[in-house]
Amino acid sequence: MNPWEIPGFLEIRDGRLHIDQVDAVDLASEHGTPLFVFSESRIRHNIARLQRAGDAIPCPLKICYAAKAMSTMGILQAVREAGIDIEVNSGGELWKALNAGFTGEQIIFNGTSKEVWEIENAINAGIYAIQVDSLYELSLVEETAKRRGKRANVSLRLVPEIESGTHSGLQTALLTSKFGMMPDEAFSAFHTYKDSPHLDLCGIHLHVGSQNPDPSVYSEALVMLFDSMVRIFNETGTRLKHINLGGGFPVNYLNEGGPAFPAEQSEMFSADFEPAAAVQTAWQIVSNAADDENARHLLDDITLLLEPGRSIIADAGICLTTVRNAKIRPVSETTDHQPLTTDHWLMTDAGFNILLSMETYKWYYLLISATRASESHATMYKLAGPLCDGGDVYFDIEGMNRLPEHRLLPENVGPGEVLALLNCGAYSLAQASQYNGRFLPAVVLISSKGEVKHIRKRDSFEDLIANDIY
Ligand SMILES: Cc1ncc(COP(=O)(O)O)c(C=O)c1O
Repeated sequence: MNPWEIPGFLEIRDGRLHIDQVDAVDLASEHGTPLFVFSESRIRHNIARLQRAGDAIPCPLKICYAAKAMSTMGILQAVREAGIDIEVNSGGELWKALNAGFTGEQIIFNGTSKEVWEIENAINAGIYAIQVDSLYELSLVEETAKRRGKRANVSLRLVPEIESGTHSGLQTALLTSKFGMMPDEAFSAFHTYKDSPHLDLCGIHLHVGSQNPDPSVYSEALVMLFDSMVRIFNETGTRLKHINLGGGFPVNYLNEGGPAFPAEQSEMFSADFEPAAAVQTAWQIVSNAADDENARHLLDDITLLLEPGRSIIADAGICLTTVRNAKIRPVSETTDHQPLTTDHWLMTDAGFNILLSMETYKWYYLLISATRASESHATMYKLAGPLCDGGDVYFDIEGMNRLPEHRLLPENVGPGEVLALLNCGAYSLAQASQYNGRFLPAVVLISSKGEVKHIRKRDSFEDLIANDIY
């Protein structure tokens, strides 16, 4: 079995890739490529894995899917039907969440630059928590709630100053990052607003970063939240209702034996630990501290929130792409693997307009042939997308050692062959653009009953100019 195969989900049948028992090559011919294929069963599997954290701790666990990872309506509905709640980052995502059927109680709202209309909509929807990013924003929430004659549920986002071994763009908990408020500011807010009739300061929040390779950051983070809870109670008598540990649980993007991967990057890309184990360890540490400090009563009625995105949706999404062009180019250099005289280039129809992280973060998505999944993947190719942009490649073009120099596929891959980029469900279509006049792709969801549901149609020519005025 190949390291990427997952029985019942990603399998090889008759030599071809099957996703939830559906032939990927047939999907590509029926719907065209690039095509995103999502598995509802895998989404449910990933959610169940996170829910095990709830069994590992004595308090209620509220899991809020980070919608920014992927928010096509069919996916939001699948997540809701799987029984969890949602975290949104804008008035637009809030609107989508409500339209996907989430109730106000199920929604938390993050973001660093909320506008008054967004705050108003959140208050009107009676959401579980507006996660406030600064003292200025808190005053705006209070003013808005007062004007509407309502009370807003608020949680304050803290800067925990915890570094995680992830990509610099995914670090969110440092003093140098743009998120949250200093703990002292938060404490002063509890003093100022504890008796406000318009604010219920019910929680505190942090997010250490995304794709965190080391589970111990969750212990550090929970200790920080607990210490803050104790201080808030001691100084203001406020008893919090929830603490939010954020998201960031990793996905193993390197589930393969394949190409030599730059060592500096491999720890992050192959990160793999059980969220439940990380949360249980963290809780145990905090529970011991609570006993030592006679503060157990503060944990009695607390709800723990998590807001995972990629650990729910990344490996549930596959991007199917077709090779559209091929060429051979002489090279003068030798590589680590063997001396080369030529490079075999393959151009696909999936560029960084639909997989932006490939360009911005040099993100790695495992690539296989869907047409010939059972054949040995040992031939080196330079893979590139279709965009008129030299950075639209799937390998290390900068010589910075952040990606492999080549991709491995079967021999003689040429135009027409369908390839599959795995673990593509998070931060891909959600960040996509029509750059180069390219149509945003169609999306299908294979339901847990095995039906193929078309949940997003491919853009049309009209979509390319839908909002242009001319
Ligand atoms: C505040 C917050 N919560 C949750 C997430 C989700 O992270 P992930 O998709 O890695 O779980 C992010 C992502 O950066 C975030 O910024």
